[in-house]
Amino acid sequence: MKKTWKILSVALILVLLAAGAGLWRRQKEAQGQEKTAIRLGILLYRGDDTFISNVRQALEEQAKGYEQETGIKVVLTIEDAKESQNTQNSQAERLISLGYDALCVNIVDRSTASGMIDDAMSAGVPVVFFNREPVEEDLNLWEKLYYVGADAKESAVLQGNIVAEAYQKDPRSIDLDGDGKVNYVLLEGETSHQDSLIRTEWSIQTLMEGGVPLEKLTGGIANWERSQASVLMEQWLEQFPGQIELVISNNDDMALGAIDAMERLEILDKINIVGIDGTPQGVQALERGKLLGTVQSDRTEYAYAIFHIAAALALGQDPEEAVELEKGTYYWTHQKTLTR
Ligand code: BGC
Repeated sequence: MKKTWKILSVALILVLLAAGAGLWRRQKEAQGQEKTAIRLGILLYRGDDTFISNVRQALEEQAKGYEQETGIKVVLTIEDAKESQNTQNSQAERLISLGYDALCVNIVDRSTASGMIDDAMSAGVPVVFFNREPVEEDLNLWEKLYYVGADAKESAVLQGNIVAEAYQKDPRSIDLDGDGKVNYVLLEGETSHQDSLIRTEWSIQTLMEGGVPLEKLTGGIANWERSQASVLMEQWLEQFPGQIELVISNNDDMALGAIDAMERLEILDKINIVGIDGTPQGVQALERGKLLGTVQSDRTEYAYAIFHIAAALALGQDPEEAVELEKGTYYWTHQKTLTR
């Protein structure tokens, strides 16, 4: 009888201890200290954009590495808005209603972020915007809004310097016919994107300050797209036969489109082409001698910043312990020039 009582009391103590531990774990989880899993939504403006799909891949790698390092399971749900802000708003609403811990948003229309911000704010879901920067007024609506990107002016100055330095070393390598003028054409990204205008302005400014005697033949908007740029370049090559000496492109994909057009028309002129992004495809063109240069933003760092800010927020931690932020909101990735 005594023995039975003893066994029962020990069992009771064990049950109480287990219940206590469960309660403690739940309390910790509620405080966000011991979550064993986090759920992040990644919303892309367009999944088939080369630069963005590279960032997406790097984000998936970050998530895997983080799981291995911390033992915290990461659920990444990646959605493609196919350039529709309405679609993206619905995607955000759905993930918010499913209780996702944070959203990483590559917003379609950067001037209309406030709707999505309102939804996220009322549900207490932090948002890390990236690559397409909402206006400052919107980013100031709540303290749990962040932005990760590559500084557009810096990309442009670095791009301009690639050409200016080549010109200073050997003017004839850029002014191909040696007539004292460098005839250029310009390929621009979407008009609504902060990077397009700033990159164009500062690239030209840097070239002029670097003493390159620029003469614009023409320019056009190819919306970051290789195929659109290729169509434009084909027209220009026919319109200005033998005259184009330099192609300044707001990104690598459009620079690749210009190369496609030259190859299609079998143009062997040594036209210099510069891009921005340093995508694997861009780097390959550089190695094949088709590009004069490009400006690479560190894709691993880019994804590291987006992922770690979001993961910290999902765990209720301070993202500034993971990365250094400007004004508590912005993270700018490092960039470097690549030349052949
Ligand atoms: C990149 C482009 C990309 C665009 C998408 C720009 O910063 O340079 O390649 O298409 O972002 O938003």
